[in-house]
Amino acid sequence: MIPSSDTWQLFLEQISMAPSADALETLDLQIFGRKQGNMTAAFKELGTLSQEARIQKAQELNGWKQKLTDAMETKKKELTAASHGSLAGTDGIDVTLELPEQETGHLHLIPEFIERVEEVFGRMGFEIAEGPEIETEEFNFNMLNIPATHPARDGQDTFWLEGSEDLLLRTQTSPVQIHYMQTHKPPFRMICPGRVYRKDADATHSPMFHQFEGLMIGKDISLANMKAVMITAIRELISPDVHFRFRTGFFPFVEPGLEVDIRWQGDETKSREGKWLEVVGCGMVHANVLKNVGIDPDEYQGFAFGFGIERMIMIKHQIPDLRAFYTGDLRFLRQFS
Ligand code: DAH
Repeated sequence: MIPSSDTWQLFLEQISMAPSADALETLDLQIFGRKQGNMTAAFKELGTLSQEARIQKAQELNGWKQKLTDAMETKKKELTAASHGSLAGTDGIDVTLELPEQETGHLHLIPEFIERVEEVFGRMGFEIAEGPEIETEEFNFNMLNIPATHPARDGQDTFWLEGSEDLLLRTQTSPVQIHYMQTHKPPFRMICPGRVYRKDADATHSPMFHQFEGLMIGKDISLANMKAVMITAIRELISPDVHFRFRTGFFPFVEPGLEVDIRWQGDETKSREGKWLEVVGCGMVHANVLKNVGIDPDEYQGFAFGFGIERMIMIKHQIPDLRAFYTGDLRFLRQFS
């Protein structure tokens, strides 16, 4: 005999009231078990019916089968959720307990500072440019109005590439000015952070260090504009009440040229306290440089600047020796997270 609707209805109620996963499992066997399950048996019995009765019963059975399967699923979920809840209630596991602190990394002082530079100059409308670290003599010196015999070359002890006539590791980011001016039409504002190389090593010099170059060219860009940009940048990058001074300086690619010194503060050893560190070179771009890249100096003018990144950070964080940046000593680096 195929069970009546009442039987299936009863199963539905039992499912919904099943107190545990085990009880549900037992019901599952009673209904759908392959050997003795009521539903399985009922489907087998269909074969004994006349065709018409079979079609009608099969429809009915399929309906119940669906309802019962759905009910089983729902109840299973309910019971699992409840068991998780009760787990939280036992005192074995405290789900509100805080996990041990995870060690998270942070940027090294130098890339972190560069990000800040890009943000500060970005707000002043400067675009970020890049240039190659291996340069030609032409770009690193000649085009910047530093001819072969010029004494300014001696101050930048150059690493030349072996086996080449004129390749070198750039000694300054200034050649990016040339690349940029060859490919862009004024007016423009750009900065370019990057690595530079010189044969130099002591507490304030390293054979590899970082600079960022800047360039602003237009029809009426003045020295006053330059000072305003320099002052804003120094205050934003170091601190609003930092002490600095402008003085004249010589760089062949600018005329007039200025340098900005910033005052050391709170140096632990007191050896530098109150002393000035030269951090920025800047000036109005020399007419020869503009001519070299095909810009008419009677129509356009502007300023260029180069900042020493390590030196800025040293002053900002009162770090007495720049070599600390490169040793990878975590005791040093962790202080600046
Ligand atoms: N390139 C110079 C250096 O490395 C710094 C510099 C000075 C850059 C004056 C400039 C500038 O753009 O106008 O010493």
